[in-house]
Amino acid sequence: MSSASTSSPLPRNILIVGSGGREHTLVKSCLASPAKPRVIAAPGNAGIAREVPVFPVAVDNIPGLVALAQREQIDFVIVGPEVPLSLGLVDALTAANIPAYGPKADGARLEASKIFTKQLLLKYGIPTAASGVFTEVAPALAYLKTRPIPIVVKADGLAAGKGVIVAQTLAEAEAAVHDMLAGNKFGSAGSQILVEDCLYGEETSILVVVSSRDYVILPTSQDHKRIGDGDTGPNTGGMGTYSPAEVVTPALLAQIENEIVLPSVNAIAAEGIDFRGTLFIGIMLTPSGPSVLEYNTRFGDPETQVVLPRLDTDVLALLWAAARGDLARVKPLVKIKPDYAICVVIAAKGYPDAYAKGDVIRIPATLPANVQIIHAGTAQNAAGEIVTAGGRVLGVTALAPSLRAAAYAAYATCEKIDCASKIYRRDIGAKQLHRQ
Ligand code: AMP
Ligand code: GLY
Repeated sequence: MSSASTSSPLPRNILIVGSGGREHTLVKSCLASPAKPRVIAAPGNAGIAREVPVFPVAVDNIPGLVALAQREQIDFVIVGPEVPLSLGLVDALTAANIPAYGPKADGARLEASKIFTKQLLLKYGIPTAASGVFTEVAPALAYLKTRPIPIVVKADGLAAGKGVIVAQTLAEAEAAVHDMLAGNKFGSAGSQILVEDCLYGEETSILVVVSSRDYVILPTSQDHKRIGDGDTGPNTGGMGTYSPAEVVTPALLAQIENEIVLPSVNAIAAEGIDFRGTLFIGIMLTPSGPSVLEYNTRFGDPETQVVLPRLDTDVLALLWAAARGDLARVKPLVKIKPDYAICVVIAAKGYPDAYAKGDVIRIPATLPANVQIIHAGTAQNAAGEIVTAGGRVLGVTALAPSLRAAAYAAYATCEKIDCASKIYRRDIGAKQLHRQ
């Protein structure tokens, strides 16, 4: 897609909001645009800071981010995480006449309230698990006794990926209900809960660029949410991804589009929400068909790290068109590369619980041409060294003509990264490799 093909000229000054691997990938995609824009980030991380200027404004400082955009003469803001979206960053930018990619607070509610989403799914007949909504402990416990175990207990609000308990026993489910409703474990995010039947199957992440009633489905991917090999241990933000997820056959993708994507986009518009951003639909591929686990209203992390590099398209032009309401014209220009992509997340030992920060990371000086190191929780110390500063530290991504070759390249680089506290899963992509 050339810059000449969009009706309004591409932006020249871009601000990326966020500090993770997703945002580092967005920075790289914008820098790769033929439009050659100036890119800045807030607050960024050590890897982003090596590529573009970063500004220490926190993602929840809405007035600070608007002021930064005005001061730096930003003409397009791409918002990475859910927190600023749900706090109304895009509403505030729009009021200041600054175009932005990402939904306003009304659209961000689709991620910020699981109950709001469940009601929308039910109202529009979109497949999803049976559930009950509770604010009091006693009725929730009574409902648990009527449902099959395992069962899922979810805090309604944003809980940094920790508000979902897939309870294997009734006692575990009862404890989760108590923790959330009586123990205030997730604060106001857990003052209402959803108790949901457990779904079985493989999960897939479907990322959709939405602009009101127009949409573009991005390449399929699969995340690995548990910390341990073989999908064991607690849930994390995501320990690795690959794309395409071939479990989603062309026929299944068509079914997902007809039964889930199109009805979702239409439902959101019918509710009066002018959604312009990424609708990330978490889907369980159950034996009786695909079923919605959740909506997120932003790019996935680490899904973005494998999805964007597979686009043979100017990502900036795509996101700009969505923000400007011009997606229908750009949609036919979106092309996907045949290559396979993988991202192996390197985390700090202890994650997703407490972990050390400040461990020095040494990255090989030269990397194979098809491998990239994406920074997430990294910082620079006084000596100028890169150190760990978060639970998920780096993503090692590779692109190759086969998933096996991509995995081989990524893992060879993971081994060469020197960091005392590094941990990573050894089986990213294994489910698909074993099927081949
Ligand atoms: P969510 O934030 O709703 O996607 O939940 C996080 C993770 O919990 C999902 O990616 C699934 O692995 C798991 N999960 C959520 N809901 C269910 C469900 N109804 N059945 C089985 N697993 C679930
Ligand atoms: N990788 C899952 C997420 O971004 O929520």
